[in-house]
Amino acid sequence: MNICVIGTGYVGLVTGVIFADLGNDVTCVDKIKEKIDSLNKGIMPIYEPGLEEMVKRNVVDNRLFFSTDLHGAVEKAEIIFICVGTPPKDNGETDLSYVEGAAKGIAKSINGYKIIVNKSTVPVGTGDFVRKVIEKNMTRNTDPSLRPAGTSFDVVSNPEFLREGSAIADALSPDRIIIGAPTKQVAVKLLELYATIGRPMLITDVYSAEIIKYASNAFLAMKISFINAIADICELTGANVTDVAKGVGYDSRIGQAFLNAGLGFGGSCFPKDIQSLVHTAEKFGYNFKLLKSILDINKKRVPHFVEIIKDKLVPAEPAPAVVSRGYKQGTGGLKGKIIGVLGLSFKPDTDDMRDAKSVEIINILLNEGAVIKAYDPVAMENAKKILPAVKYCANAYEVSEGADALVVITEWREFKLLNMERIKNLMHSPLIFDGRNIYDAERTRKMGFEYYSIGRP
Ligand code: UGA
Repeated sequence: MNICVIGTGYVGLVTGVIFADLGNDVTCVDKIKEKIDSLNKGIMPIYEPGLEEMVKRNVVDNRLFFSTDLHGAVEKAEIIFICVGTPPKDNGETDLSYVEGAAKGIAKSINGYKIIVNKSTVPVGTGDFVRKVIEKNMTRNTDPSLRPAGTSFDVVSNPEFLREGSAIADALSPDRIIIGAPTKQVAVKLLELYATIGRPMLITDVYSAEIIKYASNAFLAMKISFINAIADICELTGANVTDVAKGVGYDSRIGQAFLNAGLGFGGSCFPKDIQSLVHTAEKFGYNFKLLKSILDINKKRVPHFVEIIKDKLVPAEPAPAVVSRGYKQGTGGLKGKIIGVLGLSFKPDTDDMRDAKSVEIINILLNEGAVIKAYDPVAMENAKKILPAVKYCANAYEVSEGADALVVITEWREFKLLNMERIKNLMHSPLIFDGRNIYDAERTRKMGFEYYSIGRP
């Protein structure tokens, strides 16, 4: 099949390369010329394990193309995927201007029957919106009765469920494929496209498909906020949230996934999607209090964690003489303290800094006068643009050198495998604040560290 994918962000790029790998002819279109030029040189705009190899293979095999020419790509395509960004507005509502722009572009280029698929996360009713925008902007012939025979289209909702860091595997082997189509014939066309993946498919109407995506993300976010609230209770009572989560998760109706207590959810999806669903609910007259609580619990994770850090690090009496140890010292309760940060991306296996907890935490610590040294395996280039005051290090050991405390923010696998004896000897004082519960508390304390984590005694 000939496919056009509009937008080369996470979803667009991964969708395009997967369909090419399955044997289709795919043109990925983006209006940012530099991005397309880089992709044509084999340079990926994001870090995603396995993506670069798969893109290169399909480009060499002449199945995958990158272009700024939307018109040409739409003309050739049978199916057009809209995979553009859907950022939040200040009031939480989803900004559909990029979706609208893509729909207008499609409208001007339609030269025969097309299936237009919304893959971006969009609120219920966006399928209708896209249809109306296209109808209004079909310049080739504005009067439907005068349009060339067959120049019509259908709009489908086919939400994406991939996670950053495991996007290729998720897209190749999704738990389910949701096809929200206006008719059976249209759905069958999508079924054909996905047939070789061999995963469960649900055919439904467009509205339901649109809501399935938000309901899924909201439910996962609910699990995270739920276990974080339980972590708070564990801290107050002396219980251990890791064991509690395990015990609860053994119930097959609940499951172990997404019950890791920590610093709360970030990234480009959960925070904006929950807000969008709250907004949609309000638009239809429903006050979704449960979702508001999920956001509220999430918002308190970082301040709570920073309080623990300050509680242990800020001296009762402000230090009169500032220890220099080679760094310019700030003012504030943490002046004179050197804090090492492990992990900057919003989660492991990605360089994505959008809504990363590191930004919030580091900014508070900097404001309190601390010197921040940090290391992340892949996100440092992106982090430098947002957090210029941080001293970036080559590895976790360099971060530890002379540090008064280590703060674990992202649970990269390599941090679990560090030589902790070496870390201890490099630190000024062996103190760890583990925001992701990656270390065994008892073992870490036995090694001589003062150790604080989330929801564990
Ligand atoms: C999420 C969903 O998992 C995907 O299914 C969905 O397709 C995607 O959003 C999207 O809407 O595009 P993603 O944001 O890439 O994927 O990352 P997740 O692995 O879901 O993690 C989200 C956040 O939750 C991270 O900040 C992570 O640290 C946090 N999290 C996750 C926890 O705090 N605890 C957990 O147990 C799991």
